[in-house]
Amino acid sequence: MDYKRYIAQRLKVEGVSEDELADLVAVPPNTEMGDYALPCFKFAKILRKSPAAIAEELAASYPIDGVVCGASAVNGYLNFKIDRKSFADETLSKIIREGDRYGASCAGGGKVVCIDYSSVNIAKPFHVGHLSTTVLGAALYRIFQFLGYKAVGINHLGDYGTQFGKLISAFKRWGNREEVEKGGIHAINALYVRFTAEADEEMEREAREYFRLIENGDEEANGLFEWFKKITLAYVQTIYEKLHVTFDSYLGERFYTDKMQPVVDELREKGLLKESQGAQIVDLEPYGMSPCLILRSDGASLYATRDLAAAIYRKNTYDFEKCLYVVAYQQNLHFKQVFQVLELMGKPWAKDLVHVAYGMVSLEDGAMSTRKGNVVFLEDVISKCVEKAYRIIAEKNPLLENKREVAEKVGVGAVIFGALYNNKIKDIVFSYDKALNFEGETSVYVQYTCARAASVLSKAAAAGYQPAVNGCAPCAQEFELLKALAEFPQTVAAAAENYEPSFVARFCVDVAQKFNKFYLDCKILQADDETRAYRLAITQAALTALKNALTLLGIGVPDKM
Ligand code: ARG
Repeated sequence: MDYKRYIAQRLKVEGVSEDELADLVAVPPNTEMGDYALPCFKFAKILRKSPAAIAEELAASYPIDGVVCGASAVNGYLNFKIDRKSFADETLSKIIREGDRYGASCAGGGKVVCIDYSSVNIAKPFHVGHLSTTVLGAALYRIFQFLGYKAVGINHLGDYGTQFGKLISAFKRWGNREEVEKGGIHAINALYVRFTAEADEEMEREAREYFRLIENGDEEANGLFEWFKKITLAYVQTIYEKLHVTFDSYLGERFYTDKMQPVVDELREKGLLKESQGAQIVDLEPYGMSPCLILRSDGASLYATRDLAAAIYRKNTYDFEKCLYVVAYQQNLHFKQVFQVLELMGKPWAKDLVHVAYGMVSLEDGAMSTRKGNVVFLEDVISKCVEKAYRIIAEKNPLLENKREVAEKVGVGAVIFGALYNNKIKDIVFSYDKALNFEGETSVYVQYTCARAASVLSKAAAAGYQPAVNGCAPCAQEFELLKALAEFPQTVAAAAENYEPSFVARFCVDVAQKFNKFYLDCKILQADDETRAYRLAITQAALTALKNALTLLGIGVPDKM
């Protein structure tokens, strides 16, 4: 049951809807006063009364029943006490009944949400800058699926542009097949870097010519391009596998080569295209933005042109309810421009396009800067984290079997969690030590808590003890834990609504902390029969919720640690 909703349904505040009330009801940080609280400050203006007076009046008229057993006013807050036993029974039974579907819903009704994430650039290595888009997008993908939407994961490959002409030119000059086969993406990138460093006018001209050849379907140029693409995709695939990331489509920018002309025609027909210094633009001055460049003076298309074509293609292909672009905030203007142009074109669905912007990731040991070239590769961050995890685990628990496997889950989890724990727009400084701290607000802390719960459950099973929701009344620690667990369905829904997997990550830490308090304060296996069975049920419920939450984030759960 949704207690916030239950309370909201029984409150009447003039001019405030039930939904608004349900949103306002919250779990107070200090639960001595109440299990839920409604702040009345917002109503003061509408009702022309002090928050304290409003809270008093609402408290006096609130219908107490077997679910909510007390309502009292304190300093402008209306505090509710709920019947702990019925709450606990209900929450526990629900989690145990629903198992790995706990938190899921059918709210999405099969509606399509396209999610454009990771969207790597061909021939470029995957650096830490790509971490957030990849893991945020993948988490949103799983969250929307969990809520009954049909998610479509799109890797909008950066496979278009003069840089591929440069690469071919560099390869023909300095490269050889064997070296590239052996060195993979890094060999390709080295060629590109060398070109940028050494290119003179003649080489630049040659590169433009190679690009033109790719465009015109020249066999050799396309063969080389496809080869570079294959190598890049094979390389990123290894990283996606580690991070548990998948896609439904790899249609990149190049796919839209022949789909841009119709967009240009439509823009012209609708009188939106203007000439400016030889280029074709859409004027966005009335919207306070610089113009959106559609065609360069030499007729070449731009990043925005391809995004316009891609948005239209996606709408036609998937008829999405929403199309998300998980891309760094540096591209804020780009997406504002593209969305505005689509709106001007009269696409009613332009309002369903969302730029899910996120902040930068840098490493504690030296910020990464592409311009200086000291790029940190994501694969290196992952391996280093797994290696460090292995060392910590081997030291803490030398007898553990499958140390490698556990270290992989812990190390990869730490990288993912590091990118997902904070509000997505915040810049992140990744620290290996902080990410792998067993006592911190970390994935390893949550994983360790899961292993702890699993170990209690397997010991109980070995001794023939069964969990049971048997009508025991929860003690304070149990009740706090159950209240946190009960938040999961709303947390997942809010994470989808706000495009914030961090809500799920925070849920994990909150539950883990409350579980550990319960675990340390309350005897489980040594308790009397009734209490033991009840506490085993609580343990099982906590493990279920944590597993579901970590799975949504793409983080594995070791049985033992
Ligand atoms: N490849 C681009 C980059 O690395 C990101 C593409 C994002 N998606 C899009 N539809 N523009 O900056």
